[in-house]
Order: sequence, then structure tokens, then C-alpha cells
Amino acid sequence: MSAQRPIAIVTGGAAGIGWEIGRRLAADGHLVVAADRVPGLTAGENPAGIVWRELDVTDHAVVDRVFGEIEAELGPIAVLVNNAGIQRHRGIEDLTWDEWAAVVDVNLHGVFSALQAAGRRMLERGDGVIVNISSISARGSAGRAPYATTKAAVIGLTATAGAEWAARGVRVNAVAPGYIDTGVFRQGVDAGTLSLDTILSRIPAQRLGQASEIADAVSFLASDRSRYMNGQTLYVDGGFMVDYGVPLAKRPE
Ligand SMILES: NC(=O)c1ccc[n+]([C@@H]2O[C@H](COP(=O)([O-])OP(=O)(O)OC[C@H]3O[C@@H](n4cnc5c(N)ncnc54)[C@H](O)[C@@H]3O)[C@@H](O)[C@H]2O)c1
Repeated sequence: MSAQRPIAIVTGGAAGIGWEIGRRLAADGHLVVAADRVPGLTAGENPAGIVWRELDVTDHAVVDRVFGEIEAELGPIAVLVNNAGIQRHRGIEDLTWDEWAAVVDVNLHGVFSALQAAGRRMLERGDGVIVNISSISARGSAGRAPYATTKAAVIGLTATAGAEWAARGVRVNAVAPGYIDTGVFRQGVDAGTLSLDTILSRIPAQRLGQASEIADAVSFLASDRSRYMNGQTLYVDGGFMVDYGVPLAKRPE
């Protein structure tokens, strides 16, 4: 297969934001592997030629084995995007242990497993880029404790890995999306834990984000244009984090 193109793995790359990230990295010249539990959009119209590899990121040993197989078949992993993520909506006092653990398994253990499995291989070559997907929810988000907690942890892991590996040719950064009109957001609106009207009133840009706008930021962090960035989290949120909590109607004109 296209051994010439650098390999980019996108976990959870078969839907939503991950799919758009894959399309963008393919346009940048990568051979993109969507490592996902399901084939999702890779099974439909797929002009970018995104390859699906079945992967559940919660299994540490399986992640390492699958990354080894991808390298043996396609070539060295140049880029890893840790995008797979889930959430459960419930107040802390009502949250079951299984709900808590399911989110931690995917959003934190999964990110660590893939970061370590790809990072070790990149360190051997002294070359590679990892981009983790966090969230504005890292600041705290009522009704979404495991999600907010794991997304904050991803920022800490990104900063730490970014510092540890900066002098060894492996860059690690993160993108923290705002409210993007894809799966995780729609589930929140459907569950009643996110109110579209309230959210829109609090986004300075006055609109939801598009998955392609997250893909643009990932493309930048995955490229040499961000070569002096290590351990950073880039917020792509229409201004939410710098001005959140004040409904637009109450602001001076
Ligand atoms: N949509 C938003 O508003 C928003 C905001 C901030 C951050 N994010 C983050 O962006 C990422 C993508 O979100 P989305 O809205 O596109 O979600 P989505 O639900 O549309 O897609 C998630 C993908 O991850 C895959 N996945 C889930 N569990 C997996 C596992 N254990 N192993 C492998 N793949 C798995 C799913 O099959 C799916 O293809 C997530 O990390 C999410 O937390 C989303």
C-alpha cells in the first residue's frame, strides 16, 4: 500500500470530529488509519481512502499489538491523534461506578495507552507527533463529572509527555474543542444536560463549531509549522474559555 505516505492514526476516527481530522490529515498527505471500535464512515463514501482498523482503546495490550501490526504493514507511525472519547450524563451522587469507569477507561486510560504505545515507537526513531483531544469541559462541567475529570487529566498528561519528550524528537500537544456539532455534543443536548439556547448565548462567536475547524487545528499541531510547541493545549472554542459564563444579552454593546 502507499508506503510513501507518512502514517497517521486517529483513534475514534470513524465518525464525528475524528472523521474530519482524518480527512484533513489525508489532504495533508498522510495515509490515515481510523482506529475505532466500528468501521463507521470508513465503510461508506471514502474518497480520502481512510483505512479502518478495529481497535478498542481501553485494552492496553491490544492497543500496543495493533500499533505494532500497523507499523509492520504500513510503516512507522508519524502522527497519532488521540480522539476517541465518550461521556455519561448524570449527577455525581447518582453516577454508578460502571458509568464512571467506562468514561475513565476510554478518555484517560485509552489516551495513555495509545500515547505510550505510539510514543515508545516514535522515541526509538526520534521523530513523531501526538495530538490529544481534550475539551473545554476540562474546567468543570455540571452533570458530566467523569468527562470533565478525564478531559482535565488529558491536559496534564499532554503537558507532562510534551516536556518529557521535547528534546527527543517527539512533540505532544492537545486541542480542546468548544461545542462542536457532532456526537458527544448532540448526546448532551438529547440527554437534556446541555441546553442549545444557553450554550449559544455564552459563545462569543455566537455559533457552534464545525468538526473541520478542529481538524484545522490538529493539522497545524501535527505539522512542522508548530515545531516549537510542546505540551500545549490549544482551545478552539469561539472564545468560550476567555469569556464563558456571561450571557451575551447582558453584555455592553
Ligand atoms: N462534540 C463536541 O462538542 C466535543 C467537544 C469537546 C471535545 N470533544 C471530543 O472530541 C472527540 C470526538 O468527539 P465526537 O463528538 O466526534 O464523538 P463521536 O461520538 O461522534 O465519535 C467518537 C468516535 O469514537 C469511537 N470510540 C468510542 N469509544 C471507543 C473505544 N473504546 N475505542 C475506539 N474508538 C472508540 C466511536 O466509535 C466513534 O467513532 C472526543 O474525545 C470528545 O470528547 C467533542
